[in-house]
Amino acid sequence: MARDPGRVLIFDTTLRDGEQSPGASLNLEEKLAIAQQLARLGVDIIEAGFPFASPGDFNAVQRIAATVGTPDGPVICGLARAAAGDIRACADAVGPAANKRIHTFIATSDIHLEHKLRKSRAEVLQIAAEMVAYARSLVNDVEFSCEDAGRSDPDFMYQVIEAAIGAGATTVNIPDTVGYATPAEFGELIAGINAHVPNIDQAVISVHGHNDLGLAVANFLEAVKNGARQLECTINGIGERAGNASLEELVMALHVRRSYYNPFLGRPADSSEPLTGVRTEEITKTSRLVSNLTGMVVQPNKAIVGANAFAHESGIHQDGVLKNRLTYEIIDARTVGLADNRISLGKLSGRSAFRARLEELGYQLERDDLDDAFARFKELADRKREISDRDLEAIVSEQVQQSDGACFSLRSVQVSCGTGLQPTATITLAGADGAELTEAAIGTGPVDAVCQALNRLAQVPNELVEFSVKSVTEGIDAMGEVTIRLRAGGVLYSGHAADTDIVVASAQAFVNALNRLIAGGRSQALHPQKGPLPVLGDMPLAERPRV
Ligand code: KIV
Ligand code: ZN
Repeated sequence: MARDPGRVLIFDTTLRDGEQSPGASLNLEEKLAIAQQLARLGVDIIEAGFPFASPGDFNAVQRIAATVGTPDGPVICGLARAAAGDIRACADAVGPAANKRIHTFIATSDIHLEHKLRKSRAEVLQIAAEMVAYARSLVNDVEFSCEDAGRSDPDFMYQVIEAAIGAGATTVNIPDTVGYATPAEFGELIAGINAHVPNIDQAVISVHGHNDLGLAVANFLEAVKNGARQLECTINGIGERAGNASLEELVMALHVRRSYYNPFLGRPADSSEPLTGVRTEEITKTSRLVSNLTGMVVQPNKAIVGANAFAHESGIHQDGVLKNRLTYEIIDARTVGLADNRISLGKLSGRSAFRARLEELGYQLERDDLDDAFARFKELADRKREISDRDLEAIVSEQVQQSDGACFSLRSVQVSCGTGLQPTATITLAGADGAELTEAAIGTGPVDAVCQALNRLAQVPNELVEFSVKSVTEGIDAMGEVTIRLRAGGVLYSGHAADTDIVVASAQAFVNALNRLIAGGRSQALHPQKGPLPVLGDMPLAERPRV
C-alpha cells in the first residue's frame, strides 16, 4: 500500500492550473493575497505557479515562497516539465520556502507520446527517471505526474511510476487530464497502482482531474477509497475547460460524510478526527476572494459556495427548516463561514479600528494600500450606514487589483439617463504619467455609454464578452459588484470592482480589465502542457541535469 500520511492532504492548484483558465490571469499582488488566504484555509500544499513560464510567473512563485512558505505554513510547490531548465527554474523559485516541492511531469498516454512529445515509451521512461533524480538533487520533496494517466496503458504507467519512485519521487500524481474517467474506473486505476507498483509504499498517491464530464469530485472520492491520500484541486473548481476538481466540494464531502470515509483510512467510523487539515470556516471567504480576483463568477447553484447553496426558497422547504433544520439541511452555513458577516464599522470608525478589523479578517495591507483602502472605506461610509465584513472584503480585493504601474486610473464618471433621454457618459481617465483625458459618448444605456467613452479614451480594440452585477450584501444601500470580461486577440481579460453606484463600479471594472489587457496578462506566458518538451541536447551544458 502507498505511503499513508494518516489523513487526506489537500494540494491547492488554484494559482497554477486554476490560473490557466481563460481570462483568469492574476497580478503579483493578487497571487500573494490568494496564497495568504490559502494558508489561512489550511491547505497542505500550494502549487504557486509554473516558474519557467515567464519572469512574472517566476517572481510570483518566489515571492509566495518567501512570504507564505513559513516553517509552519504550507509546502510551496512549483510545476516543471520534465526538462532540466524548467526544474532548475522551479528549484530557484521555491527556494525561499521553508517547505518546498518540485512537481515535474511527463505524459504517459500513447496519444500524447505520438502527437505531442513525439517520443517512444522507452524515451519517456528514461526522461522521467532522469528528471526526477535531477529534481531530487535540488530539493527533498519531489512530486511526479503521469500526464493523461486516465488514458494511459496501465502496465506502462506502472513502470514509469516505479522508475520515478526509484529516482526519488515522494509523491506520485495520477491526473485524469481530459476528464474522461468514471468513478469506478478511476478507483480501479488507483487500486491497480497500489497492487502493481512494487515500491509504491515509498510514495504518497495523489490524484488530479478535470471536470469535463462533471465527474472530477466523484472520481477523487473513489480514489480516496482505494488509497489516494493527496487531492489536487482548485477553489470554486476553476481551471482549464470545465475546470478542476473543486476543493470546497471535496473537503465538505469528506467532512459531512466522515463516518462513511473513515474506515477507508483505517479509522473507526465514528472517529471525529478531521479527514483533512482544512479550516472549513474559511471556505466562503476564500471562494469570494478567488472569484473577485479572477473574474470567474460562481454559478448560483454551485455546491457549497453558490449564492443559493444555503437558500431555502420553496415554501415546503422553509417550513421544514423552521421546524427542524435537519429536514432539508446537511451542512450548517456557519461550518463554511457563511453566517459570519459582522456589522463591523461605521462612519465614525477611525483608521486604527479599520486596520484592526482588516487584520482580524486576515488582511495585512502595506502602508500605501492601507491609506487607499481607508479612503475608499470613508467614501463608502458616507453613503452606507453600516459597513460589514463583506464590504471590507470587497474594498480589499479591489485594492489588491489596482496594481502598481497600471496604465489608466479612473478619475471621474458622470452619466445622464432616464425616460426620454439619450444615455450619455462623460469619463475622465488619468494615464500612468498623471495626465488627464476626458471623453463623452452616448450608448443604449448608462453602462454602454460608459464603456463607449472608455474605449474612445483607451483606444485599445476589444470586445465586451461578459458583464455581471451582484450585490455584496442585502439592503437598498448595498454595494454592487461588477465583473467584466473583455476579449482581445483571442485572449480574455477580466476586471472586477464594487461600489454603491453600479455605474461607477462598471466603469472601474472596465478600467481594471483594460489595464490587464494592456499589461498583456498571460498571453505571452508559456503553457506547461501544450507543445513538445525542450530538447536536452539544445541546452547549454551548465543547464543540463547533473545526474
Ligand atoms: O491536468 C494535468 O494533467 C495537469 C498536470 C500538469 C498535472 O495539470
Ligand atoms: Zn490539470
